[in-house]
Amino acid sequence: MRHIAQILETARRHNGQAGLSGFLLVGGDWFAQVLEGEAAAITGLFRRILFDHRHTNVRLVEIRAARERLFGEWTMGSTAEPLYNLPLSPMMKPSPPGRLDFPFDRIIACAMHEAQRLREASAKD
Ligand SMILES: Cc1cc2nc3c(=O)[nH]c(=O)nc-3n(C[C@H](O)[C@H](O)[C@H](O)COP(=O)(O)O)c2cc1C
Repeated sequence: MRHIAQILETARRHNGQAGLSGFLLVGGDWFAQVLEGEAAAITGLFRRILFDHRHTNVRLVEIRAARERLFGEWTMGSTAEPLYNLPLSPMMKPSPPGRLDFPFDRIIACAMHEAQRLREASAKD
């Protein structure tokens, strides 16, 4: 949990400077992250994340060209707490070598769902 706060602090500082936005889903023993921004900025960040010793087994799920951002109001939005019940966890099991079966659309849907909950919670404040 200490790591998550640190990750988010660094992420928000750096992503703000780099014009990146996104959302971080935190599972019991996994993360799934959506990054939005210019290709060069994304590539640079992904390289750094790959070499971050705080996690292993980093996978790139998919890169898509997008007309607009889904998480533009966050330099890195997050629930910041593990979502043990999120139906993403069964899919984080290792897949056969050479196969990527992390479902991109599912990750986006979960992140949008959590983002909406955050928006509603902050609208109440
Ligand atoms: C799950 C996870 C997500 C991360 N997301 C970001 C991010 O969005 N932006 C960022 O700058 N760093 C992020 N980091 C941290 C980077 O891996 C790296 O530690 C950080 O960018 C500082 O890099 P530096 O020590 O080379 O300056 C993330 C790390 C983890 C483990």
